[in-house]
Amino acid sequence: MTETIPAASAAPGPPSGRSLSADVADLELAAEGVRRIEWAEREMPVLRLIRERFERERPLAGVRIGACLHVTTETANLMRTLKAGGAEVVLAASNPLSTKDDVAAALVAEYGIATFARRGEDRDTYYAHLNAVADTRPQITMDDGCDLVSLLHAERPGQVTEVLAGTEETTTGVIRLKAMAADGALGFPVVAVNEALTKHLFDNRYGTGQSTVDGILRATNILLAGRNVVIAGYGWVGRGIASRMNGMGAHVAIVEVDPVRALEALMDGFRVMTAADAAPWGELFVTATGNLNVFRREHFAAMREGAIMANSGHFDAELDLKALREMAEGHVRDVRENVQEFDLGGKKVNLIAEGRLVNLGAAEGHPAAVMDMSFANQALSAEYVVEHHAELEPRVYVVPEAIDAEVARLKLAALGITLDDMTPEQRAYVSSWQHGT
Ligand SMILES: NC(=O)c1ccc[n+]([C@@H]2O[C@H](COP(=O)([O-])OP(=O)(O)OC[C@H]3O[C@@H](n4cnc5c(N)ncnc54)[C@H](O)[C@@H]3O)[C@@H](O)[C@H]2O)c1
Repeated sequence: MTETIPAASAAPGPPSGRSLSADVADLELAAEGVRRIEWAEREMPVLRLIRERFERERPLAGVRIGACLHVTTETANLMRTLKAGGAEVVLAASNPLSTKDDVAAALVAEYGIATFARRGEDRDTYYAHLNAVADTRPQITMDDGCDLVSLLHAERPGQVTEVLAGTEETTTGVIRLKAMAADGALGFPVVAVNEALTKHLFDNRYGTGQSTVDGILRATNILLAGRNVVIAGYGWVGRGIASRMNGMGAHVAIVEVDPVRALEALMDGFRVMTAADAAPWGELFVTATGNLNVFRREHFAAMREGAIMANSGHFDAELDLKALREMAEGHVRDVRENVQEFDLGGKKVNLIAEGRLVNLGAAEGHPAAVMDMSFANQALSAEYVVEHHAELEPRVYVVPEAIDAEVARLKLAALGITLDDMTPEQRAYVSSWQHGT
């Protein structure tokens, strides 16, 4: 299934003189991919600045990076940045449905980056692609959901010691890594890019908020105004989706298990319900919890005719799809691109993007302007671990504050926004304990 193809003549040669292995759907799509990657790049000024510096300084020279990320236009710009820094980069998809085939083709044919990703790949292919990345013996792992790190630890323990460090993009991946570290099972340090403020405050909230709505609308073309929308999880992602749904005129109800988050949702103006109460009330259901089986058999049974379900959490486990399939007894049909209708006998309900991340399965993922900051954190964290891995222990680290601040500073500068600075008097005032009433 893996084809060996020559790197495009315009691109620098393949890593280490090896032939460039890849598995993508159709190299003919490369030209379209390049146009879209360049379009995204216009919205990614911070990453572009980092790439220009990396080209001069080559901080990643000779380092083998194995990446498992959603293969989107924004990821392509990150891969270009890492390569500009001198890294030998190999990329596999972090989800079977999120790959943009034109981008995968462009990465291989135009940018000379070994890429293993086909939209709609089955489970075996997904893992064959991850193994293709692992075969290159990465020294840095760059994960979105911890699948590459898990594979190395579970199936290739001998390779774990070769890894200097890793980076992790998303909440679910960080949770998995922290569980590994708590069990003493994590074999190398990992920087949790998700924990950077310039990542989750913007990417999870505004990026996922907008792109989740985008995916739902592209798939269904429904009117949100006046619709009852249930969102499970009021974390960074859930908050973003809720505020955007609210802005478009939907009636929003939140399902939560955390009392503080539930209270916050209430005071943000939303209803808070149990899943059982929300099931007959809602018309559109969106999960964003990082948990499993949030809506399940009893909820599907109570839903209205025509209810629509989507998931924006990392794994396709948030809706109990096994129960849904069992209840439909084979009466499942495609009613639109990315929408399946389940006939539950007496009532039909709909599922978008097979319950996988709806913003990537049915739309293009986050807007590039927000991925600019997430991937700037990735690039700078990769540079950081190359410099500092010897000082780090095998546990989960937050992104150094200096990187977070640098990303925010560069983003503001790129947007042409200047901040105030404190006067010397103010600086003295806020650092003194002697001032009082
Ligand atoms: N679609 C995307 O592009 C994208 C982007 C970023 C994050 N994510 C994923 O979205 C998920 C949520 O991320 P986040 O940053 O908002 O996490 P978070 O930890 O900030 O929020 C999750 C919330 O879900 C709640 N929750 C957990 N179990 C629940 C249950 N059974 N019912 C109701 N609520 C429950 C938690 O209390 C918490 O408030 C993760 O899987 C993350 O990896 C997806």
